[in-house]
Amino acid sequence: MNMKIAVLPGDGIGPEITAEAVRVLKALDLKFEFEEAPIGGAGYRALGHPLPESTLELARASDAILFGAVGDFSLDNLPRELRPEQAILGIRRALNLFANFRPAMVYPELVNASSLKPEVVAGLDLLIVRELTGDIYFGQPRGVQVLENGEREGFDTMRYKESEIRRVAQVAFEAARKRGRKLCSVDKSNVLETMQLWREIMIEVGKEYPDVELSHMYVDNAAMQLAYRPKQFDVIVTGNMFGDILSDEASMLTGSIGMLPSASLNEKNFGLYEPIHGSAPDIAGKGIANPLATILSAAMMLRYSLDQSAAADRIEGAVKQVLAQGYRTGDIAEPGRKTVGTREMGDAVVAAL
Ligand code: IPM
Ligand code: MG
Repeated sequence: MNMKIAVLPGDGIGPEITAEAVRVLKALDLKFEFEEAPIGGAGYRALGHPLPESTLELARASDAILFGAVGDFSLDNLPRELRPEQAILGIRRALNLFANFRPAMVYPELVNASSLKPEVVAGLDLLIVRELTGDIYFGQPRGVQVLENGEREGFDTMRYKESEIRRVAQVAFEAARKRGRKLCSVDKSNVLETMQLWREIMIEVGKEYPDVELSHMYVDNAAMQLAYRPKQFDVIVTGNMFGDILSDEASMLTGSIGMLPSASLNEKNFGLYEPIHGSAPDIAGKGIANPLATILSAAMMLRYSLDQSAAADRIEGAVKQVLAQGYRTGDIAEPGRKTVGTREMGDAVVAAL
């Protein structure tokens, strides 16, 4: 039977990078059916909404979703519910994709691309498990209100239900069990009530995983430790907003945000796969974006949702090979090496397969 993939390219560099990931998937000896639909700014322009109902229907009817990026400055003045970013937030929420996996590893070939000293990052291999459907991102009430004195006040609400913390904790402990058996829960329990509950539930769930070493860190310290001694971490589990911030930080340890894939899963391992970077409007349409994060996201899709780990290994092996062969896009460029464009990088991965 064909595996049906919903391809949602989105905005900016999204179409260019997803095209390369689709080409790589097509080069495997597997049977896929690809169907494309507009999302983000592209969804708004085509169908009047960043997350058109037909796009959501396609996603629901698929075995997995390959996602590019959303974001379009020229639409930033629309009401919030019509802004491109609402598409990714809406689809995560609509499909209950609460567990976000953001691995960050340093390829030996790119150790000099990191802004940190090679010895600090060499061999780094960490996984951030970010809760993705709760927290201040979705908490109600939120808004901007006018106070009695006429001054405006903005407010958002951080909230987590026990059940939301517990399910992401379980996913993170399971992931740690398959890796180095070390889990660091990142919170701000010294200041926030929600985060105190977060820590309590982490400790409670941890009792079911005596083989995994659980530690706790405040988010400010975690941000510092990531830049100071990143190799102390194996798996990090954290809430939606802290995970958003820390995963961008972690990406820079690896040399480029253009290298980092992600998986967003529901409780049945159905998922959406996307690079962690954004739509990069400044380089859109120039054919220079790095497609490797999206290609590596396709590999994660094969492994987590489609039960094709051998094919996932092949793609990851091919990416390592092209890096070893010296292929570099602009974001990971090195003096003395030829810089290639999006398409050539895709070609190189296909050839390496
Ligand atoms: C991410 C992005 C999104 C987020 C934006 C585009 C809404 O930064 O996936 O990390 O904040 O979750
Ligand atoms: Mg982000």
